[in-house]
Amino acid sequence: MDSATTATAPVYRFACLADLADVAAIEAERFGDQAYPYFVLRQLFDLHGANWLIVEVDGVVLGHVLVALTPDRRGWLLSLAVSTRSCGRGYGSTLLAEAISLCRQRAMRSVLITVRPTNRTAYDLYRRIGFAWTGYEERYFGAGEPRDVLEYKLASA
Ligand SMILES: CC(C)(COP(=O)(O)OP(=O)(O)OC[C@H]1O[C@@H](n2cnc3c(N)ncnc32)[C@H](O)[C@@H]1OP(=O)(O)O)[C@@H](O)C(=O)NCCC(=O)NCCS
Repeated sequence: MDSATTATAPVYRFACLADLADVAAIEAERFGDQAYPYFVLRQLFDLHGANWLIVEVDGVVLGHVLVALTPDRRGWLLSLAVSTRSCGRGYGSTLLAEAISLCRQRAMRSVLITVRPTNRTAYDLYRRIGFAWTGYEERYFGAGEPRDVLEYKLASA
């Protein structure tokens, strides 16, 4: 077999503790000083590790989506990121689709995500998949740094 022409299929699976260092590196690369630091990811793993998805290729973690389920049956996507060098290959949209599917399996009523109004790549992706605007907060990331909240409805409330 010619390995130069053989692409390894991405694997989508639940995160494990050993993935957190790679996830932290992707977070730092994509979100800079607003990335979740390792110890926060470690705490989030205790709370939400059962609903945390990653994509890997050849054993290398390339992206993740962190899902937090609330008692009122909302699934919050607390982070979604793909390493810069791996963007544009469908990993982000597939992680999103997997997260929506997970929320549906867990009987959530909707899926919510925070996005900066200026983040057009993410915003366009969410809108195309079926998320709709549901809220705005002026100082979410700090003074002059608002957020939009987008929602994907799964079932009638
Ligand atoms: C948003 C993000 C997760 C998308 O991941 P991805 O793996 O590139 O997603 P996909 O390959 O599925 O591409 C999704 C769409 O974004 C487009 N896209 C990807 N990278 C892009 C870039 N650098 N500039 C413009 N568009 C881009 C793709 O063309 C695709 O559009 P299409 O379906 O019309 O072709 C990724 O860009 C990322 O990690 N961004 C930084 C972190 C971030 O903003 N997270 C979301 C916070 S709300």
